[in-house]
Amino acid sequence: MNRRLAAPVGITGTGECFPSRVVTNDDLSKIMETNDEWIRTRTGIRERRWAEPGTGASQLGAPALQMALDNRGIKASELDLIVVATVTPDTMFPATSCRIQDMVGATNAFGFDLNAACSGFLFALNAAAGMVAGGAINRAAVVGVDIMSTIINLEDRSTSVLFGDGAGAVIVERVEEGLGILDSELKVDGTGACFLHMPAGGSLKPASAETVAAREHYIHQSGSEVFKKAVREMADNSRLLMDRNGFTGDQLKLFVPHQANIRIMDAAAKRLELDPSRMMVNIDRYANTTAATIPTALHQAVQENRVEKGDLVALAAFGAGFTWGATLLRWAY
Ligand SMILES: CC(C)(COP(=O)(O)OP(=O)(O)OC[C@H]1O[C@@H](n2cnc3c(N)ncnc32)[C@H](O)[C@@H]1OP(=O)(O)O)[C@@H](O)C(=O)NCCC(=O)NCCS
Repeated sequence: MNRRLAAPVGITGTGECFPSRVVTNDDLSKIMETNDEWIRTRTGIRERRWAEPGTGASQLGAPALQMALDNRGIKASELDLIVVATVTPDTMFPATSCRIQDMVGATNAFGFDLNAACSGFLFALNAAAGMVAGGAINRAAVVGVDIMSTIINLEDRSTSVLFGDGAGAVIVERVEEGLGILDSELKVDGTGACFLHMPAGGSLKPASAETVAAREHYIHQSGSEVFKKAVREMADNSRLLMDRNGFTGDQLKLFVPHQANIRIMDAAAKRLELDPSRMMVNIDRYANTTAATIPTALHQAVQENRVEKGDLVALAAFGAGFTWGATLLRWAY
């Protein structure tokens, strides 16, 4: 997909929420055959947060959204829409967006969940922004949240060390002319479905005693296939978007890539000919929180004053599906 919005729409507030429990690489080495050196050098991860068992996505998503509302200085009742990007909803249905709507008291909002795995936040941001730009609604919230600790197989050391839990949220509304989302390029390629997936629990293979015994309700990943595709597509797609809009890496104030592996992120930054200090990195502390990586990294960049009104910002993602995309914005506040 290649698109520009019909009207200037941007992000006007951010928030985040992480569980308090820190799980270090050394902690993992006590429960599986791994070590800090392997995880750090292959991925850039030092620690992650894992929620207490029984924590639903809504329980991180709602506080993240409340923080975004507070930072924007508006009430939940002023939202028209809540889009929740997640692969770990509270339940298969009803949607987690309904629970979050109730928890924050967004009495005038409708909502839906969207699943594009690690690209979920970017796809949800563009869906919400398109509805605002088209005039259907005035103001939306986009929440990216995942409780990855509920779907990792601790017997699979090559995958379980990579993920963490968290939630990020943004407010999306009309902004001044020339600011907000400038352009996006979003893609899917379903031929990659088999390389990163949860085999059971859907209509194709409903949950049964056999699927549980076969550990099919966990993430299954072909790490090297995903790695190769992610490096190529995230880097090429980000570069394409910059070239299409006539921007060079030195004009980019902030690059916020999906935080899956520092080597994938570095490859994308290199393709953009970007000064490494302009790339937002928090994978070392939170690992891959799937739909939450981009909104939480963005929130932290705002908190650290790394972005100002008018700055050029690029967001880039890659995830299961395969799904990938990039969005270029002029920061709106
Ligand atoms: C998973 C990943 C980190 C593996 O890195 P890698 O460089 O391919 O790993 P290597 O080939 O160097 O090492 C594999 C070896 O390490 C071992 N290994 C795997 N996980 C390990 C761990 N946690 N600790 C120690 N050793 C581990 C493997 O068993 C294998 O051993 P072998 O060679 O004896 O069979 C990498 O493929 C990756 O990041 N893939 C993309 C994952 C991703 O980003 N997914 C989400 C996309 S949104």
